[in-house]
Amino acid sequence: MNSLDPIAMLEAEHRVILKIVGAMAVLADVMEAGQDKRKPVESVLEFLQAYVGRCHHIKEEQHLFPALAARGVPTQGCPIGALVHEHQKLHALVEDLSQAAQMAGQADQASRAAIVRCLRELAAMYPGHIWKEDYLLFPMSRKVFQQGDLDALGTKFCQVDDQIGPQDRRRLEDLAERLYEDSMAAAS
Ligand SMILES: [Fe+2]
Ligand SMILES: [Fe+2]
Repeated sequence: MNSLDPIAMLEAEHRVILKIVGAMAVLADVMEAGQDKRKPVESVLEFLQAYVGRCHHIKEEQHLFPALAARGVPTQGCPIGALVHEHQKLHALVEDLSQAAQMAGQADQASRAAIVRCLRELAAMYPGHIWKEDYLLFPMSRKVFQQGDLDALGTKFCQVDDQIGPQDRRRLEDLAERLYEDSMAAAS
């Protein structure tokens, strides 16, 4: 039996992701005011691509959603279909941010405006997405799953984490904390 609670793992990751959400909102403001924030934007991007894209969303898309579907939860409509659609929009925004950040080497006005737009849209979308998972999807999952389902999910989630590695995960969580603290200092 696996002692890890996979739903609690996802909830804990949401708390880390929300730190980056807070940092993105402030970064957008200070960039719009004319400050050069290329380095923190690169860090935000790295976090979104690795911690969210290759870890958190993989756990949900490749393991949690299919496990719910196997227990009879419909994959179309609310909640799974809507959440998958939001993941697609979030992935597209991260890709847009990546392209804008590459262009920003030339420090032109258009690429800065594109970065600000992506940061704002990501910061606007994530809290609602996380709220739906924390307060709708996860409570429902706890009702639908049996202990064996949770144990199997916990094992799969650990395998996803292993692909990133504990040191890199820790480093990315520290990065989120640092970006959040820096952004709060910049906002005060
Ligand atoms: Fe999600
Ligand atoms: Fe999530």
